[in-house]
Amino acid sequence: MKKIAPSILSADLARLADEVKDVIQAGADWIHVDVMDGHFVPNITIGPVVIKALKKVVSIPLDVHLMIENADLYLDAFIEAGADILTVQAEACTHLHRTVHAIKDKGIKAGVALNPATPLESLAYILPDLDLVMIMTVNPGFGGQEFIPAMLPKIERLKGSIAKQKLNCEIEVDGGIKVANIGEVARRGGDIFVAGSGIFGARDRKETITKMRREIGA
Ligand code: DX5
Ligand code: ZN
Repeated sequence: MKKIAPSILSADLARLADEVKDVIQAGADWIHVDVMDGHFVPNITIGPVVIKALKKVVSIPLDVHLMIENADLYLDAFIEAGADILTVQAEACTHLHRTVHAIKDKGIKAGVALNPATPLESLAYILPDLDLVMIMTVNPGFGGQEFIPAMLPKIERLKGSIAKQKLNCEIEVDGGIKVANIGEVARRGGDIFVAGSGIFGARDRKETITKMRREIGA
């Protein structure tokens, strides 16, 4: 089933609980949490303590996107804090196979994110083990960046290889998703759509999510 995951990076963080409740009421399927360490990406955001606090007020899955180095050191902390899905960046994990299985062994879903310049081929030997692949459609680090259209054929090719191998792996698309482009991204093969500024920055969030759903046929 297609899903919409608002990214709290664009929420009013001083009112985080209310902001999250607002998008859940507006129809969000997952809450996307962007964790940045100031090393892998040039920005610093939030960590397990905030996720633990969020977990108390959020009834839907917490989709945690780790844009950090040394992810292995922090997996347990994020899982204990309440992450339902943990996605690591391929570029930041030297022993990606070990990291993915460390997540799965804890009984939650594991994803791998690919930066725009990282080829799909880097996942060839791990794809069957993944619950999701996250195609980055911006260079990670900040909300509100422009969608990179050259990622559309990448999504399409990934969809093809998942279908060919009959895998149970979803495609999440993250960066620059708006009402105007979400339909095209869905047609190319996207299953889960992250939107930060496109939802939290909208005048009417409920109307925006409803329009997005219509565009993706969900
Ligand atoms: C990018 C983050 C995204 C970002 C999406 O570094 O991983 O999740 O918050 O924000 P928008 O939708 O504004 O591009
Ligand atoms: Zn993200």
